[in-house]
Order: sequence, then C-alpha cells, then structure tokens
Amino acid sequence: SGTVRVDLAGVEPGQRITVKWQGRPVFAWRRSPAAIEAARAVDLDELPDPVDETDENPNLSGEEPALDENRAAGEDGEWLIVIGVCTHLGCIPLGQDGSAVGEFGGWFCPCHGSHYDTSGRIRKGPAPRNLDIPPYTLGEDLQLVIG
Ligand code: FES
Repeated sequence: SGTVRVDLAGVEPGQRITVKWQGRPVFAWRRSPAAIEAARAVDLDELPDPVDETDENPNLSGEEPALDENRAAGEDGEWLIVIGVCTHLGCIPLGQDGSAVGEFGGWFCPCHGSHYDTSGRIRKGPAPRNLDIPPYTLGEDLQLVIG
C-alpha cells in the first residue's frame, strides 16, 4: 500500500519533479553543484530549525543536525527528497517549476511568506520546521522508493 516507486534516472541535473505519496506531494530535486554548495555553506546557527527531530529524517538513526549532508542523498548529495507541504499551515510551496523559489533558492510558500533554502530548510517566515523528509530508499540505479 503506501509505497511509491519512481525512476529518477531520466531527471536532468537541475530538474525538479513532483511525486504523489500518500496524498501529498513529494519534491525530488537533482540539485546543481551551486545549489549543493549553497546548502553546505550555511552554519547551523543561521537556521531557525537546526536539529532534525528523530522522525524528521526517518532515513537516519537518531537526532541529526539539519546539515545538508544529513538531508540530501545520492552521490555528492545531488538529490534532495522532501515532502512538499509547508510546515506552517500546510500550503504547497512554489518553486518546483523553477520560479518563485524565494530568497534562499529552494521554495517559497506564498500563503504567509516562508522561504526555504536549497536543502528545504526554513530560513525566513513563519514556518516552524524544515520541510519534512519522507522515508525512502534511493538505489544506485536511481530507483526511488518512497514509504
Ligand atoms: Fe506556508 Fe503559512 S502555510 S507560510
């Protein structure tokens, strides 16, 4: 039941795709080196939500700081897979088509103005938490299995 399989092999560098999982959008982004670099240049003390809750990245054991290294997947952290639901009041952030990515290059929630960075972390606005990460596996063959 709640499992979705997606072949990401055809996703181009820089491209973002949206997958439906359990009635919610999941954003998958094959990030450019510049987007990865931007995410990794951020100090934890710049983040409103610096520590992922235990269940926030269910693919890691324990409580992990919200470093991009802990949020991304794949070789060199190329892939970011997050649930596309604003952690404020649940709107779907803009940015999947490359427009309206907000001030930090990730996503922008137009409902009340939350800005997410290229690691899906809240940086500005009322959202209390980083975008959630779904449980998933991503094989070397780029088969993504969510749930
Ligand atoms: Fe996204 Fe309020 S629901 S900022």
